[in-house]
Amino acid sequence: MSDIKPKFLEVYSALKSELLDDPAFEFTDNSRQWVERMLDYNVPGGKLNRGLSVIDSYKLLKEGKELSDDEFFLACALGWCIEWLQAYFLVLDDIMDGSHTRRGHPCWFRLPQVGMIAISDGLILRNQIFRILKKHFRGKPYYVDLLDLFNEVEFQTASGQMIDLITTLQGEKDLSKYSLSIHRKIVQYKTAYYSFYLPVACALLMAGENLDNHTDVKNVLVEMGTYFQVQDDFLDCFGDPEVIGKVSIKAVLIWISVSGNAIGLTTVFLLH
Ligand code: IPE
Ligand code: MN
Ligand code: MN
Repeated sequence: MSDIKPKFLEVYSALKSELLDDPAFEFTDNSRQWVERMLDYNVPGGKLNRGLSVIDSYKLLKEGKELSDDEFFLACALGWCIEWLQAYFLVLDDIMDGSHTRRGHPCWFRLPQVGMIAISDGLILRNQIFRILKKHFRGKPYYVDLLDLFNEVEFQTASGQMIDLITTLQGEKDLSKYSLSIHRKIVQYKTAYYSFYLPVACALLMAGENLDNHTDVKNVLVEMGTYFQVQDDFLDCFGDPEVIGKVSIKAVLIWISVSGNAIGLTTVFLLH
């Protein structure tokens, strides 16, 4: 996987150049510089697991056959669309959560020159996904399915973020609002679809598959994504900030309730 990372990053530079010269907008030097700095700060600095897994998944679907240069570029472009989606959600999530650091650096909105301009930047990041898709996939037979996929997954993620936030609000007053089932729903929607299902679904579409025939694949990936986010929440609380690259003010209270012969493990997340 590591050998494709430099090539994947080259595609980032190519996509960035295109976006900075998007004919749909008259960029000035100032606005171009702003967007470039904003992209470099927020898009490529993570682990890139989600983006890289589009390429890995597509290669597996091609059963080890060498990808043409064109196929490789398109798989990378879809991978970057997912990284763009994640950057958009994280820029806004850090504002909503009042976070301080991300990937070992101050959150974008914490930079003195940025502040609430970060909301505008989040919207730009979101729109750029569809600029990339239009430029490179408009003529493909799976273009409409791709747009629908990104739209649906974005809706699921935004809805997960919403139930995360409103449950936190209720929890400030009444801890009994938290249950294992609401927690499961939060992590499933805010993380699992975009992080685990989306990369594989992109690869399936590129390979000419109909996503309606792969609900089993979706179910397994959503389970994996749920496990991943539970681990992320645990690390936020108990992990070393030096290692995980972010400081969180989440506090986790875990208690085991024993009633009759049933043992229930309930995890309560007090965010803020
Ligand atoms: C962020 O969830 C989920 C999305 C970006 C959609 P969290 O708020 O739990 O994640 P971190 O801890 O800030 O990364
Ligand atoms: Mn957060
Ligand atoms: Mn959050």
